[in-house]
Amino acid sequence: MATFLVINGPNLNALGKRDPAQYGTATLVDIEQRIRTYAREFKVTLEFFQSNHEGALVDYVQQHAEGADGIVINPGALTHYGLSLRDALADTRLPIVEVHLSNVYAREEFRHKSVIAPIAVGQISGLGWRGYLYALEHLVSVVQEPKPAQKTPQKPSGKK
Ligand code: DQA
Repeated sequence: MATFLVINGPNLNALGKRDPAQYGTATLVDIEQRIRTYAREFKVTLEFFQSNHEGALVDYVQQHAEGADGIVINPGALTHYGLSLRDALADTRLPIVEVHLSNVYAREEFRHKSVIAPIAVGQISGLGWRGYLYALEHLVSVVQEPKPAQKTPQKPSGKK
């Protein structure tokens, strides 16, 4: 059974009371529950983690990437400058989807740059908590897609 890590960075533990106009009213526990419910039909294993500390996120990624098939991550403000988190994610060589609840491109300019996006397969921004569902659905489809058949070397036919 495929396993996916769903990781949230700094301040996302405060969802529900944190700037609801940007981030909505659902708490992180609500969102994790919605992801679990949505994922039931996919029959996958999910592991959730949130931290306000970049080092703790790096430790988690290093310790849990082996055995995982993909990562959904909302890195919070680390999106914009968290290079050690980026390196840890890149080292996993797993497919990663970056999620933002708010539309970061409609906000302050410092939010327009992501150091994570270049090592992710894609980014979802501005679709609220549903962005996590779409990210997970994408990773499940990619992992379950049949791999293209390996080309086997042609045997020499013996003919000239
Ligand atoms: C965020 C956007 C970031 O710019 C911000 O620092 C966050 C949340 C989002 O989900 O929209 O903490 O990642």
